[in-house]
Amino acid sequence: MPNEIAKSVRHLWLLCTPKPMAERVDLAGRTVVVTGASPNSLGYETAKTLASWGADVIATSLHDTKATEVCLKSDLSGVGADGNISVRSLDLCDTNSVSNFAEWFVKEYDGTLHVLLNNAGIHKNIFSPRQKPPLSADGVEIHWRTNYLGPFHLTNLLLPSLKSGARKSGDARVINVASHLHNRVSNEELINPTKTYHSWNAYGASKLALIHFSFELNRRFEKEFNLRSVALHPGSVHTNLTQTQSINGRIGAVLNRVNYAMTSLVLLHRKHGAQTLIMCASTPTLQGGHYYERCRVKNQATRLGRHLPQKHYGASPKPGFIVSPNCKFMGFREYTIQTDPVEVNASNELVWRVLTNKQEYGEWNPFTSRIQTDFKIGSPVHLLVRMGPAKFRITEVLCAFDKPRLIAWEKKFGARWLLFAKREQHIEPIDDSNCCYCNIDILTGLLAPIVYLCFGNYIRRGFRDVARGLKAFVESQVGK
Ligand SMILES: NC(=O)c1ccc[n+]([C@@H]2O[C@H](COP(=O)([O-])OP(=O)(O)OC[C@H]3O[C@@H](n4cnc5c(N)ncnc54)[C@H](OP(=O)(O)O)[C@@H]3O)[C@@H](O)[C@H]2O)c1
Repeated sequence: MPNEIAKSVRHLWLLCTPKPMAERVDLAGRTVVVTGASPNSLGYETAKTLASWGADVIATSLHDTKATEVCLKSDLSGVGADGNISVRSLDLCDTNSVSNFAEWFVKEYDGTLHVLLNNAGIHKNIFSPRQKPPLSADGVEIHWRTNYLGPFHLTNLLLPSLKSGARKSGDARVINVASHLHNRVSNEELINPTKTYHSWNAYGASKLALIHFSFELNRRFEKEFNLRSVALHPGSVHTNLTQTQSINGRIGAVLNRVNYAMTSLVLLHRKHGAQTLIMCASTPTLQGGHYYERCRVKNQATRLGRHLPQKHYGASPKPGFIVSPNCKFMGFREYTIQTDPVEVNASNELVWRVLTNKQEYGEWNPFTSRIQTDFKIGSPVHLLVRMGPAKFRITEVLCAFDKPRLIAWEKKFGARWLLFAKREQHIEPIDDSNCCYCNIDILTGLLAPIVYLCFGNYIRRGFRDVARGLKAFVESQVGK
């Protein structure tokens, strides 16, 4: 079933089932920054709850800061909570505003922060997505600027405070509010956007980048600093973002009201949508480096390349990291077969040399014991593949050869809509003498679920054996 219909059916099903709620945690002594907390938003609900649980909350909004603060305080006293909450102005599209906010925070809170909730975000032109790309005042596509660059900048400025919070309390965290719409964009498109502009794709790209950023933060700082980071999808929620006042005039006002009433029936209430944010900000058992939905880990997106080290993230704005499948076709779901990346105690150049030395394949590769190709894009790749007791000869087409990080080949079985498979091998450097190797197979098309069910395990085992064989062989070559 095409992806979008499946997603809508799933959403409606979830709407009718009990909604998970975050468990109350005593947050006394914790300082929390929640961006984007205007009334009727997810940030508002989250800031209110965290403050009522004892946290010292600094919420931000773009407009009407004072009014937001009054509302929050009155709501809190209405429920008998005397939470400590204040609201500051922050414009994520404005470098000075972000710097001023961070500077103010460091001075005011003695450079100690426990939770940064990057929640503020926008989705423009929901009903007219093909309009000219809206730009920020400094000339960057607006979703990329607001949803990714702004939070990236803010997080980096607050990093010392987060490290200090982690040092003092043993627990600091960055929670990035992403969206399931990250699925609209592949990693390849993130790096080299090729399609004509569509605001939903621009929104998806900004959220995909934010997810990568979350995982990379966690990889860098969890072990050494107890600083964890996760990304999450709140669900499809009735907020200002989903109540676009898209039509002007008197008739428009009526239609907007009808739209408001209708959407409130098919979208989650803010109180429920905020639960995953609240839970991630408060639970002691948060699993850093994961993607959350409905208050639990949901790593459906193995294609996010969660474990791969991404050395380029520091070089934003144009993220140079990962690479990944772009097999999206006619709305067919992607079936991903992937094993955990293995760490190889050798340079990525050495791994690359072994992977591209056709003569040695039989010595280390139990899954693909023979390969014939000239490693030119578009050239055939003849493979001898073993699956269980059987051996197959198969010819694919080389589609990526990015020395020394990525080799990929792909194949259409009949028509592309019938079955399409792409295999990627990634090598990511950790440092000069260590790297990470990972195998990914992506299947799409009508037959993909059947192939996945029948052969998925064989392929997964084969990939695991390849990774182990490669690691052993390459490490035996170090210093030779
Ligand atoms: N609602 C959903 O269905 C849904 C689904 C998936 C993900 N999300 C994500 O959830 C997050 C919260 O969204 P929401 O639904 O609560 O939307 P919302 O009600 O529109 O709230 C967004 C918040 O972000 C603030 N903001 C907008 N532009 C900003 C900027 N340039 N600098 C700083 N703050 C800015 C807004 O401030 P002002 O009100 O003052 O402009 C508002 O407080 C967003 O990141 C969104 O992408 C929402």
